[in-house]
Amino acid sequence: MAAGMLMPMVRFAVDPVLKAEAGGDFIPTPKKMSEITKEPVRVDFKFKQKDAWYESEVTETAWVYKDDNGKIIALSPVCKHLGCTVNWNTDKEHPNQFFCPCHYGRYTKDGTNVPNTPPLAPLDVYPYKEKDGYLYLGKAKPRKEA
Ligand code: FES
Repeated sequence: MAAGMLMPMVRFAVDPVLKAEAGGDFIPTPKKMSEITKEPVRVDFKFKQKDAWYESEVTETAWVYKDDNGKIIALSPVCKHLGCTVNWNTDKEHPNQFFCPCHYGRYTKDGTNVPNTPPLAPLDVYPYKEKDGYLYLGKAKPRKEA
């Protein structure tokens, strides 16, 4: 009987987590696929996040470009050192890299962390798909090492 009483409480506690996981759905961005070039650009996209208590609007950002094979790459801007935001090509001494101003972390264009800078892992990668000519992004995940 105790278990019977406990289950609804456990479900209530776990539900928001399950919903967050289910949010692995693809979110529309304002970026047209045809506008994506080899130069990384910042793409902001918004979605509504609902937990057990309230709904909020969340804005996320991706750095998006096409690699040399024409494949779309969408990288998380969240630095893998301590979570600051990285920018593209803002460090004049190291052009064409992602740069984190907090502790001078650097990443190559494909998101690989540059050795001997603070980040110890590559930038997370968003899965993507195309719908009606627009870029849709899923939930950013750590890059799988080859
Ligand atoms: S948070 Fe990016 S280098 Fe430290």
